[in-house]
Order: sequence, then C-alpha cells, then structure tokens
Amino acid sequence: MQKGRLVGRGARSDIYEWGKGRVLKLMKPGISLDAAKNEARNTDLAFAAGLPVPRVYEVIEMEGRPGIVYEHIKGDPVDRHIKAATWRTGEFARQAAEVHTRVHQITVAGLRDVKHRLRSAVLRSKLGEAVQGQVLQRLQGLPDGTALLHFDFHPLNLVLSGQRIYIIDWDNACTGDPLADVARTCLISSLAEYHVRPGLKRILVRHFSRVMRDEYVKRYAEISAKGTESLRHWISVVAAARMAEGFAEEVEPLKCLAAAVSS
Ligand SMILES: Nc1ncnc2c1ncn2[C@@H]1O[C@H](COP(=O)(O)OP(=O)(O)O)[C@@H](O)[C@H]1O
Ligand SMILES: [Mg+2]
Repeated sequence: MQKGRLVGRGARSDIYEWGKGRVLKLMKPGISLDAAKNEARNTDLAFAAGLPVPRVYEVIEMEGRPGIVYEHIKGDPVDRHIKAATWRTGEFARQAAEVHTRVHQITVAGLRDVKHRLRSAVLRSKLGEAVQGQVLQRLQGLPDGTALLHFDFHPLNLVLSGQRIYIIDWDNACTGDPLADVARTCLISSLAEYHVRPGLKRILVRHFSRVMRDEYVKRYAEISAKGTESLRHWISVVAAARMAEGFAEEVEPLKCLAAAVSS
C-alpha cells in the first residue's frame, strides 16, 4: 500500500492517510519497532477499557521505519481549535478534564509504575546529586496508585471529532496516582511558552496556557471530587524528571520548578 496525504506531524512521527478510514503513524528514524509495539499495545488497552481512542489495526515496517496503522479520527487536534477560537479555551479545557477523569477511573495491570519511571528519569537528569536527592525523597512521600495514566495528555494529543475528544499517542502510558498525570499536563502547559520566541506570541501563549490550565484543574477537581493539595509536589517531581527529555529551551524553567521541591 502507498502512503497518502500527510495528516499530522508529531515530535516522533509523521502521520499519513492509509487507505480508507485509516492512517499510518510512521515513526521517525531511531524509534524502535519495540517502541511502536508498546504504543500499539497501550492504545489497545485503552480501547478495550472503552475509552475514546483510535482503533489499532497493525504494526508494520516501511522504508526501514516502524509504523502503526490506526483508525483515522476525522478532526483536528484541540491545540488547533484553541488557536482558531481562543475565546473557547476554557470550554476545551473543561472538556479535556472530563475525558481525563474517565481515563483515571480505569485500572489496568502490566504497565510501568509512574513512580519507578519518574525515579529513573530523575536519576538521568542533570540536576546534581543534592537536588536529585531532595526530589527523590519527595517522590517517595507521594501516593502510590493503580489508575491508568496517559502521561502525555496535552492539546496536541487530543483530537476533537464532532463533539467528542479522542485521546491519541499512548506511548507514555503507565499506572499510578492520577495526580501525577494531572501534574504532567500542567507542566507541559506551563512549558509551552518556552517553545515560542520571546515577544507578543510568547505572551499570548503564556496567557492562554494559563487559562487552559486553571480551567482544566478546576474542572478536574470538581468531577473527581479529589483534593489537589499534592499537585504542586507532583509538579516539582515531574519537572525534575522532564529534564531527562533534553529540551534545551526548557532547562531553566525546569530547574526553577524542580528547585521548588526544597521550599
Ligand atoms: N489516528 C489519528 N487520526 C487522526 N489524526 C491523527 C491520528 N493520530 C495522529 N494524528 C495527528 O498527528 C499528530 C501527531 O500524532 P501523535 O500520535 O501525537 O505523534 P507523536 O507521537 O509524534 O507526537 C496529532 O496531533 C494529530 O493531528
Ligand atoms: Mg503526540
């Protein structure tokens, strides 16, 4: 089969039409077949649990690169909807919170524990032994859990199709305390501005990211009836772990967030 039109692009992949009603997520060079199989398995788990996610058809290799054939979700990422209609940011944020609480009601076995995962990422970060030690101590005191976590839940990984939000890109899925996942969403949102050059655009991204974050957390707390006191502790740990992902533009803000751990 021949690749069709390019329908999307992510940090790790290019997404092409693939016959009727399907897309091929073709991984960038360097991403292993095992990583693609892992993402496909995680998505299958979420689908079997009844969550709004694309159906997985198969994992293939093409042009020496692994690829996953998914159901084509007709629509645009929530990120694009927000940019096109900024006054609706709060509405999208609340809808995202609603679907995120549904993910957290699911319990699954066989996925990596988020605290293990964070621990090894903190150890790989270049924060220095003293800060790493403080972060790991804080991590130890945070709750364990068995909920399904997406752990990359942000507006580029949410596709709005009609009135329904579909969650894509389950590469990072793991299990643990839901607030670890909420913290990661908050963190990614507060880092968005650093991926934009300083100037008016950065100011706008900062503003709408904050609106998105505030509305999302408020609605999440409302529906889940969960206190969010430990959220700031999770954010500092998740920030320290994010350092290991190596985005140069995030280093300074992440250092500040991770250092908040000792205060
Ligand atoms: N099943 C799908 N149906 C429709 N669009 C998709 C689908 N999967 C991905 N996309 C589009 O491609 C973009 C990148 O996909 P994603 O899975 O997040 O890749 P990456 O892992 O590289 O971040 C998404 O933002 C979305 O626009
Ligand atoms: Mg993605």
